[in-house]
Amino acid sequence: MSKLAVLTSGGDAPGMNAAVRAVVRRGLSRGCRVCGIQRGYAGLFNGDGFIDFQLGSVAGIIHRGGTELLTARAEEMHKPEGQDRAAARLKSEGIDGLVVIGGEGSFRGALALEERGIKTACVPGTIDNDINGTDSSIGFDTAVNTILDAVNRLRDTATSHERIFILEVMGRHTGHLALASGLAGGAESILVPEIKWDLDEICRRLLQAIERRKRHSIIVVAEGAADVFEINREIRRRIAAETRVTVLGHIQRGGSPSAVDRLLGSRMGAAAVDLLLEGKSGLFAALKGDNIEAVTLEECFSKSKPFPEDLYELTLDLAR
Ligand code: F6P
Repeated sequence: MSKLAVLTSGGDAPGMNAAVRAVVRRGLSRGCRVCGIQRGYAGLFNGDGFIDFQLGSVAGIIHRGGTELLTARAEEMHKPEGQDRAAARLKSEGIDGLVVIGGEGSFRGALALEERGIKTACVPGTIDNDINGTDSSIGFDTAVNTILDAVNRLRDTATSHERIFILEVMGRHTGHLALASGLAGGAESILVPEIKWDLDEICRRLLQAIERRKRHSIIVVAEGAADVFEINREIRRRIAAETRVTVLGHIQRGGSPSAVDRLLGSRMGAAAVDLLLEGKSGLFAALKGDNIEAVTLEECFSKSKPFPEDLYELTLDLAR
């Protein structure tokens, strides 16, 4: 009987619980023992015991946001000595395979463990959707919908007062979250780090909209693209319009996962267990079109996830 372990690491993402549930139930149904490591990789250093999971241990969690396994950003896993200690702990616990659910930083930890003889399989879980090699990651869809809800509310008040709203969304160094939510929310402008933007051009569009008696304008700004308060100051300086800034913050990370994220978590969690039971390692479960496929961790790190410039172009045509 194999002994598998699962952890969630880095920023939490809605749907991580669905993935943990899938790992536990797929593993148990294949005759494995499955245990959980709390607080991500930090749980390998802080003396926490591993949780021995039963079928019922993951009951009633599929609809919950966050991660029941808890998460953390463990500095130790960035250093070779820490990676040695983590691998040694997993070996001493008799773990035959580890499922890591998290973002790129978590994947790097998994690769380091792989290089130290631990069989690993990863599941992409991050609202940023910035993992190269997969079309989407767990949590992205829910976060986009949370942002959309905010955009809808902001538009109500923006229209009533005939104001311009500047909304900062997460995404770390990338603009995938800003692009998807801005396009789906009908934002007038979207600022992302991947595309050079020109404030004069943005102001020109804002003025055109005002001349056409448009009552609101919403500018979605990825956190990695610009300082929203600076953008606000500059817009006010260039055009005589009333503006307001909203920083959405961690509200984007919480909330009950959407159906899309529950399905993705369930499929990817089960696929990660299957990979380990096939004796494979150093791979992650990726969404490619409608299918879940195995992709190497090396491919994930080989380049940044391509930015869908065609979608960005579309926003320029549609947001008028
Ligand atoms: O990676 C997910 C994310 O929410 C990013 O979008 C954001 O930049 C970062 O985590 C925030 O991290 P923390 O919760 O540690 O402040």
